[in-house]
Amino acid sequence: MAGRLMDRSDWMIPDGVSYLNHGSFGPTPKVVHQVREEWSRRLASQPMRAYLREVEPALQSALERLAGFIGTSASNLAFVDNATFAMNAVAATVRLQPGDEVLLNDHEYGAVFRIWRAAAEAAGASVVTAVLPRPLTSPAEVVSALEERITPRTRLLVVSHVTSPTAIVLPVDEICRMANRHNVPVCIDGPHAIGMRPLNLDSLGCDFYCASLHKWLSAPLGSGFLYVSRDWQNSVVCPIVSWGRSLAGRPPVWQDVFRWIGTRDPAAFLAVPAAIEFLESFGIERFRDQTHELLRDGLTRLEAEFGAKALVPVSREWLGSMATVTLPSSNRSAKPYLTDPLQTALADDDSIEIPVVWWHEDRHIRLSCHLHTTVDDLDRLIAALRELLPKFP
Ligand SMILES: Cc1ncc(COP(=O)(O)O)c(C=O)c1O
Repeated sequence: MAGRLMDRSDWMIPDGVSYLNHGSFGPTPKVVHQVREEWSRRLASQPMRAYLREVEPALQSALERLAGFIGTSASNLAFVDNATFAMNAVAATVRLQPGDEVLLNDHEYGAVFRIWRAAAEAAGASVVTAVLPRPLTSPAEVVSALEERITPRTRLLVVSHVTSPTAIVLPVDEICRMANRHNVPVCIDGPHAIGMRPLNLDSLGCDFYCASLHKWLSAPLGSGFLYVSRDWQNSVVCPIVSWGRSLAGRPPVWQDVFRWIGTRDPAAFLAVPAAIEFLESFGIERFRDQTHELLRDGLTRLEAEFGAKALVPVSREWLGSMATVTLPSSNRSAKPYLTDPLQTALADDDSIEIPVVWWHEDRHIRLSCHLHTTVDDLDRLIAALRELLPKFP
C-alpha cells in the first residue's frame, strides 16, 4: 500500500470546484468518511452496546495511534472537538491572577485572542501582544521578539506552530527552549501543523498543545486533541462539566473529564486512525514534498502575474503546504466582518475556495495545496484573479 497514488477521486469534492483552503476546513477523504459513518451507524443502532462496551476501548486505541503519529504517549492526550475547545480548556486550567500577563503575538488566530482576552479580563490580568519583525528573515528574530516581551508577570506564552493569517511556520522548538529558560509555560496552537510538519511532542517540551485534525491530516471535521504535559495533568480543567468518569467503570485517568461531556457522537475521533493511514499510505514525507513543491509553483506564478509576494522566504523552514501572499489592494471594506468580496466572487463565479485575509491593514490571499490539488487548480486560480482583481481592486 505504501506510496500509492492519490488524487481528487479519493475525496468527495464536487466536480468543477478547486478547493484551495485546507487551512480553514479540510474536506474529508472518502475512506475516512466511511469509517466515521460506520461508527455513527453502530452508535445509532445499539447505543448501549456502543457507549458502554465498544467506544472506550476503540477510543483508547485511536488515541494510541494518534499519539504514535505525534511523538508522545496516549497518556498525555485527550480527544476534543477542535483546537478552540482545547484552548478553552487551557484557559480554564491556567488560573490567571490579577496582574498576570499572557503573551501572544500579532500572527495569532483571532478566536485565540478572544479566548485569552476573556480569561484575562475575568481575572484582572492582561494579554500582551509581541509584534514579530516584518519581513521575517531568521527564526532567531522570532524568538527574540517574544523573549523581549517576557516579564516577571508572564504566566503563559501562547504561540502557533503554523500561523493562521500568515501561514508561517514558527520555530516552536527554539521558542520552547527560550521560554523554559525563563520558567514560562508554553501553549502551542497547532492545528495547521498536524500532518504538515514533523512533530515530536515528547521532545518539544511544551506544556500544552491544542489542535484540530481536519485541516492537513484530513481527519473528520470535529476531531481534535489536547496534549497536557505531566506537570499539569492533575490540575487540568474541562470547560464542560459532566460525570468526569468512565461510563464503562474503568479506573480514573485525567482525560476522563474530556471523555464524557454528555451524550454525543464520538465517531469523528474513532476515524482519526483512518486519516493517519490515508496519509501514511501515500507517504508522509512524500505528501509534504509534493504539496510544498506545488505551493512553490503557485507562489512563483502569483508573484510573476500580480507582484504578490510571500511574507517569508519561500523555503521548507518557513512554509509547509500553505502560504499567504500580499495582494494589491485599496482600502478594506467598511464592514470588516463581511467576507471579502474578492473571496466571494472567486467562490461564486469560478468555484474556487480560497480565503482572502486582511492582516495588518493589507489584503492577502492564502493558498493551500493538498494531494487533490493540481496544476490545473493553479491555472484556474491565476485566470480567475486576472479577471477579478481589476473588478475588486
Ligand atoms: C491557528 C489556528 N488556531 C485555532 C484555530 C481554530 O480551529 P477550530 O475552528 O478547528 O477550533 C484555527 C482555525 O483555523 C487556526 O487556524
